Amino acid sequence: MDATTLTTPAVLILLGPPGAGKGTQARMLEDTFGLVQLSTGDLLRDAVAARTEAGKAAKAVMEAGDLVSDEIVIDILRDRMVQPDCAKGVILDGFPRTTVQAEALDGLLASNDQKINAAISLEVEDAEMVVRISGRYTCAGCGEGYHDKYKRPAKDGTCDKCGHTEFMRRADDNAETVASRLTAYHAQTAPLISYYEGQGVLKRTDAMGRIEGIARDLEVIVRDAMI
Ligand code: AP5
Repeated sequence: MDATTLTTPAVLILLGPPGAGKGTQARMLEDTFGLVQLSTGDLLRDAVAARTEAGKAAKAVMEAGDLVSDEIVIDILRDRMVQPDCAKGVILDGFPRTTVQAEALDGLLASNDQKINAAISLEVEDAEMVVRISGRYTCAGCGEGYHDKYKRPAKDGTCDKCGHTEFMRRADDNAETVASRLTAYHAQTAPLISYYEGQGVLKRTDAMGRIEGIARDLEVIVRDAMI
């Protein structure tokens, strides 16, 4: 990666398998710390919807539950990280997912005299991830995430955050694709836990509990990491 205008004061990484709660927790950390959530999954879904060249290349790969090429993902993330709002600090959600991506991020940060504050591993059992993913839906208006069992809107059918009444389910949230996503996670992303342990920035957190409890644990970790 190569960028000259990166001025991000804090870089946090949320590592974890599909459905671990990375997006849920990243949005809460955004609200608490004023950081910006960068989800490569969301950036890729935007590219697919906009039918860009990267989006066209990514669409079938995402639908199969495989990882999009490092080249495409690194380009998308680099372009997003140099936007002015990232000067507030970023929470990377779903990136890096391979050693090549992790090394590219290290290069980008090093060339700007910056470092990773913490890489936080959300630890969840595979069976729980399947339950979380199969019940997930989001507000079509603001993207707030919900779950059939674990996180329902206060008023059924109305988003708590923006009052919208339409909701969406992701095309890749089906049993077959979830199995491929878990395989890709264990083969290509789980090794990053040791990678960041080696760099001395790894923090582990038990993500099997309730959303609010995990958020409190993460708040402590992030506060410490940003000092
Ligand atoms: P991406 O969008 O990143 O999906 P993912 O990693 O599979 O993660 P999810 O978004 O499914 O889960 P999450 O951990 O954010 O969980 P959430 O908070 O929503 O990637 C999609 C695809 O894009 C990939 O498969 C790949 O093809 C491609 N891609 C993306 N990045 C890439 C990269 N870097 N390289 C290559 N390819 C890339 O929570 C899930 C549900 O559970 C929600 O309903 C939530 O309400 C609920 N929930 C959350 N926490 C709890 C809790 N503690 N208890 C009970 N319920 C909970």
